[in-house]
Amino acid sequence: MRGSGRGAFIAVALAGAISLPGAAVAAVPPPAAVPPPTAVRPAVVPPSAASRASAATEAGTGGGRMLARTPPMGFNNWNAFGCDVSETLIKETADVLVSSGLAAAGYKYVNIDDCWSLRDRGPDGRLVPDPVKFPSGIAGVADYVHGKGLKLGIYGDAGTKTCAGYPGSLGSEELDARTWADWGVDYLKYDNCYNQSDGTREDFIRRYTAMKAALDRTGRPIVYAICEWGQSQPWLWATGVGQLWRVSGDISPNWPSLRTIIAHNAPLAPYAGPGHWNDPDMMEIGNPGLTETEQRTHMSMWAMMAAPLLIGTDLRTASATTMAIYGNREIIAIDQDRLGVQGAVVSDSDGLMVMDKPLANGDHAIALYNATDSLATISVPAVDTGLRRAGAYRLRDVWTGRATQVRSTISAAVPAHGTVVYRVRPLSHPAGVAPAVTVGANLATLIPGPTGATLTTTVTNRGVGAISRLRLTARAPEGWTVTATSASTRRRLDTDASMDTTWTVLVPEGTVAGSYPIGLTASYAWGPRRRAGSSASEIVSTVVTAPGDGRRHLSTVPAVTSTNARGPVEFDQSNGGEGDRDGSLITIGGTVYTRGLGTTAPSEIVYYLGGRCSRLVTDVGIDDEATTTIPATFTIHADDTAVATSGPVSAGAAPTTLTADLTGASWLRLVTTGSGAGGDGTTTNDHADWAAPVLSCGGAGPDDAVQPAERALFSFESGTEDWVFANPEGGSMTQSTAFHTEGGHGLRVLTPASGNWFGKALAEPLDLTGTARLKFDVKTAATGTTGEIAVQVGADWSWCQGGRWAWTNPNSSRTVVEDVEDIECPAGITLDLSQVRAVWVFLNGGDVHIDNVRAESAVGTAP
Ligand code: GLA
Repeated sequence: MRGSGRGAFIAVALAGAISLPGAAVAAVPPPAAVPPPTAVRPAVVPPSAASRASAATEAGTGGGRMLARTPPMGFNNWNAFGCDVSETLIKETADVLVSSGLAAAGYKYVNIDDCWSLRDRGPDGRLVPDPVKFPSGIAGVADYVHGKGLKLGIYGDAGTKTCAGYPGSLGSEELDARTWADWGVDYLKYDNCYNQSDGTREDFIRRYTAMKAALDRTGRPIVYAICEWGQSQPWLWATGVGQLWRVSGDISPNWPSLRTIIAHNAPLAPYAGPGHWNDPDMMEIGNPGLTETEQRTHMSMWAMMAAPLLIGTDLRTASATTMAIYGNREIIAIDQDRLGVQGAVVSDSDGLMVMDKPLANGDHAIALYNATDSLATISVPAVDTGLRRAGAYRLRDVWTGRATQVRSTISAAVPAHGTVVYRVRPLSHPAGVAPAVTVGANLATLIPGPTGATLTTTVTNRGVGAISRLRLTARAPEGWTVTATSASTRRRLDTDASMDTTWTVLVPEGTVAGSYPIGLTASYAWGPRRRAGSSASEIVSTVVTAPGDGRRHLSTVPAVTSTNARGPVEFDQSNGGEGDRDGSLITIGGTVYTRGLGTTAPSEIVYYLGGRCSRLVTDVGIDDEATTTIPATFTIHADDTAVATSGPVSAGAAPTTLTADLTGASWLRLVTTGSGAGGDGTTTNDHADWAAPVLSCGGAGPDDAVQPAERALFSFESGTEDWVFANPEGGSMTQSTAFHTEGGHGLRVLTPASGNWFGKALAEPLDLTGTARLKFDVKTAATGTTGEIAVQVGADWSWCQGGRWAWTNPNSSRTVVEDVEDIECPAGITLDLSQVRAVWVFLNGGDVHIDNVRAESAVGTAP
């Protein structure tokens, strides 16, 4: 689930009076239908040979021929567009699929997701395509798509409503299947919202089989994609019902989401095969949030796992890199291989995985997948894979196209979050093929200054025959020095032998914290004719610097690393779900905090202190969003010593305050552990908050103001503080105690349907010089709220506005933040913060609570 962009803003100059422009009301995103996470990973019991055999004959027979013999490929609009789907988008996407060559590469389904119909069925009970979004109807779009040699997919729901609240098909299976077939639909994604389920597997089977039977009765071959988010473990029952089934909740374009889904889907290999596939969800390649390395891992692992390949980005504007990743024919061939075997996990330890996918021509695709945060050398003896024994193997890297040979061990130095995929076959004449030489490295975090850090490197020759005249060189950013402190050359390196080298890396004082590349290149001669060869790796080094003097909110200090059980660690909000920025304001036992770190245990957040800090004071507790009552323990570590711990904290308990002495420590680690079965720290759903943590460094006194400082502008302690609405559509305002983050009161606003601006014109200009951000806290029962802020400045009351689209889950809260530098004024007007004449916030979504409209100063300046 996601919002579909921020509301457009309008900037209009107004003289004096405040008859203000209506804000564009952003498309309201659909209600959250975030599937509850599958808490317990089932023990994977491979199906019996008998059930596999019957699957092969029964599965996906539509008109006698097997549907989805290989995993379906195509496009689905949801990941990039959410509810913003239309005939134009689908037709233009079909056009690009064909013109770009992606259709020829196999992407043939163009799938419409949620929000395509009207909110009510027609008089005949049939689903009605939204005539504004689909003026030609679904049938018209199907004709168009078919005319391009492609196929059309639609979306329905095994409940009373779809996830976005459109009509569901529970009880209308026959009619809806018939309608879709009449329109010429070739693929159905069948979702699970509003499912009226008692939660038993029998109920899931009943609901999903009802649609399968209805589809069969249409006589039209329609690929049936079961989308119940893995809740009833469909891999155990859905072979023969659908051709694919989602195994997990919704994917998001961030690394933790990708990593979690891969970890969940990889062990399910025994359940997949021709006509019955595990579906780890649609792809996010091309959407902001993943690095290029991560996007290649996405494509690589989806192909290795024989996953459906559904493009989830806007192909009309996709970059050449995005097109090249989706269009890599060699990786597609691995996904689509007609043997139809999902790659099996050969080994998986400490975040390094080897996966083996046998291919129809006898080759094996071997993936070396590095889920850790640093370069790692991953190796597997060929005998541990399904490859037949041979004196040598040829490896073809499907991303670089480079071919190498190894004697017995398949290996690569794989970048953090990266995946190397080799297509491997036995090789009888290795002489003319370059040997595989890996360059691995290990480097601690770098601190600018004279001490330096140690880099260790290992060059290994995996090829048949020795390499000679080996020389390893390192390339670092300008001003850095990297000096070998042991031998970095070798006259000869035999098969499976390594050269280890240590180096000292010096980073100049004043280097800004961040990531910097260090390149390593091994050059050597190989083969009887001593041909020149080289192998390279890149390490991404992390430079850390200690926080500045004073007391500051820890949530504004950049962490060096963080790990979290569910999605990314959230800053100034609770963990929420798998997505980034999908939590609420941190709330513990009813107390709301606007600052803090939202995690789900087990989690660890690491900060560099450089011995400069003295104290951390923080509240801790289980967030009120937790849906189970599993306790978590909070521990603060100064270097390797636990300096404060909470003991197990339960859901519903009031916040506990921890005070940690950090004197002299180089590192601060905030750790939450769960209390899952086996006491291994694994847990379910114990959303563990570090609430309002404040770090003191550089001799800060306990009474120093906490940075960044905030100045309350309106906190509604004395009533509505004379707030008014700007446009005639109106609305109403009352002081309220139901939601507040400053003092004991906030403001309850009833907005008109299209929203309005609420705020106050000021008799005297307000001086907000030095303000870096304007903020307010909001809580709403609705599913979509725009958070925009406007100010009027100067003698002519020029209207400047901007702000961030803040999509909220129902009944959630957040701080709307607007960077002053993002506020836009009409042409010719400059934002003079010393002359603020009015402050407005835009609210829609019906019943909204807000509080604490405030100005945040740049760090180091007074409020
Ligand atoms: C669910 C599904 C998503 C998408 C949305 C549409 O969340 O899992 O893939 O179809 O519904 O509302």
